[in-house]
Amino acid sequence: MRIVLVGPPGAGKGTQAAFLAKNLDIPHISTGDLFRANISQGTALGLEAKGYMDRGELVPDEVTIGMAKDRMEQADAANGFLLDGFPRNVAQAEALDVVLKADEMQLDAVLDLEVPEDEVVKRIAGRRICRNDSSHVFHVEYNAPKTEGVCDTCGGELYQRADDSEETVRTRLEVYHTQTEPIIDYYRAQNLVVTISALGKVDEVTARAMAALKK
Ligand code: AP5
Ligand code: MG
Repeated sequence: MRIVLVGPPGAGKGTQAAFLAKNLDIPHISTGDLFRANISQGTALGLEAKGYMDRGELVPDEVTIGMAKDRMEQADAANGFLLDGFPRNVAQAEALDVVLKADEMQLDAVLDLEVPEDEVVKRIAGRRICRNDSSHVFHVEYNAPKTEGVCDTCGGELYQRADDSEETVRTRLEVYHTQTEPIIDYYRAQNLVVTISALGKVDEVTARAMAALKK
């Protein structure tokens, strides 16, 4: 299956992607996680992305599309993938269509996670992620690690993302509404969009997502 996850910052894309990718046996590809890995490794790509991310703006398409394409072309993605945070504007969606068409592939679904803004703000405020791997995601209240400040998955140190400050979250939400939401209409025209509520417990949302994808 080839799936795109879409939803505002803090909707739970990364959280759900971890479970959905496991259930569907496809790799979870998050451009945000790829950028953060590049930043912690101090690569040129990471250095270029960091300023945009810290401000809550999109990293330029030239950088992002190439990175996403490279990742999708790796062997583990040959039979499918779950994209989280890509595409994030119509130009990226068009570029993805070109990549897929070149290999005679298609998307199966675009899963749209709907969450009210006040809930998103609470989820982001309490989020903690792992130094070793930013796909290990927790919440101080809603999804607390067994030991405070320590990652359940790998024992790494948990910290708060630099772009989770109140001011940057405001920019990220605005960027989502103006630049990312239009891709939902783009994919609606291809009859690919499945919208679900992302409210409720993590496992309830996963069950809802799996049921929606099976249809
Ligand atoms: P990215 O890392 O993709 O961030 P985002 O889209 O803003 O989304 P988040 O990771 O903040 O939220 P999420 O939906 O994954 O929620 P999570 O599961 O963590 O991108 C960061 C930056 O990178 C961008 O701003 C941009 O600069 C750059 N970038 C990335 N991709 C790009 C692209 N394609 N083009 C250009 N630039 C790009 O959950 C949030 C919290 O809620 C957690 O604490 C979690 O534990 C909790 N939670 C989850 N589910 C539930 C639930 N059901 N109930 C209660 N709490 C829950
Ligand atoms: Mg995420």
